[in-house]
Amino acid sequence: MAIREILVVPNPALKQVSAPVEQVDDALRALMDDMLETMYAAPGIGLAAIQIGVPKRVIVMDLAREGEDQQPRYFVNPEILWASDETAPYEEGCLSVPDIYDEVERPARVRLRYMNYAGEPIEEDAEGIFAVCIQHEMDHLDGVLFIDHLSRLKREQAIKKVKKQAKAA
Ligand code: NI
Repeated sequence: MAIREILVVPNPALKQVSAPVEQVDDALRALMDDMLETMYAAPGIGLAAIQIGVPKRVIVMDLAREGEDQQPRYFVNPEILWASDETAPYEEGCLSVPDIYDEVERPARVRLRYMNYAGEPIEEDAEGIFAVCIQHEMDHLDGVLFIDHLSRLKREQAIKKVKKQAKAA
């Protein structure tokens, strides 16, 4: 396993639409292992492959609370089958937009279909932080960042702030 570099805005790769995975094989599992290690090291709770520059429809996530055992989860080719009309706000952040947090409103519950680490098809309902996180990560697969849900002014301010931080580092 290896820790990869996480791309940050305004890197144009983050706007790219990722391609479906054809097969869950050892090479893909090695990618998922690297993604998980990179996410834990950041630290973060979710990561899409494009955030390390790989345009594949793959997400890793771990929503375990502090003090709990790790609960790594893997989503290959995730799709949303259903989303609730009811929405919920949540203060989101993103490893590709470091140190910026803002409220995004999304469907409160979704039904998902994806393949897991073993390549098995899964259908599952998500709510709460799981629903927020999977929708945020699935946006990445279509080149959408959480700041794209904000006003243009807030989005431009966020990118400017990240650029300034990068220059100072
Ligand atoms: Ni993100």
